[in-house]
Amino acid sequence: MKILIVCLGNICRSPLAEGILKHKLGDGHTIDSAGTIAYHQGSQPDHRSVKTAFKNGIDISDQKSRPITSQDLDEFDLIFCMDKNNYRDVLQMANEVQKPKIRLILDANREVPDPYFGRIDDFDEVFSLLDESCEIIAKKIQNHTI
Ligand code: 4NP
Repeated sequence: MKILIVCLGNICRSPLAEGILKHKLGDGHTIDSAGTIAYHQGSQPDHRSVKTAFKNGIDISDQKSRPITSQDLDEFDLIFCMDKNNYRDVLQMANEVQKPKIRLILDANREVPDPYFGRIDDFDEVFSLLDESCEIIAKKIQNHTI
């Protein structure tokens, strides 16, 4: 499957989710991430995300921020967004065929809070939320129920 994970800047939350989901799934799937803004294009993930991932045995330091494109909406099977703003922005780029591919990454309409202006503890909280949701997503992909 081809999974795209989206946040605002593609430097804090979605690089973490990309790293976690790749770690859980191994090879055989395409997992990528992107931002709804191009402001950080070409940048490494935020050092706090790199550190939080590393603490949990995952290296995300090779990733580079990029903005989502309309081609992504064709190319990827599922697009997971961190919060309702990302979800709305991606939905606005999509046609009727593409819209059902777009989801919030957490269940029950919950959002992954933006940790950019926060503290290192906020990154731990984001990691924990993403680890939980990526575990569910990875199981569904492996069982072909997504
Ligand atoms: P992210 O966090 O969407 O999780 O990558 C942010 C990164 C950058 C900004 C905001 C949130 N920013 O305002 O530049």
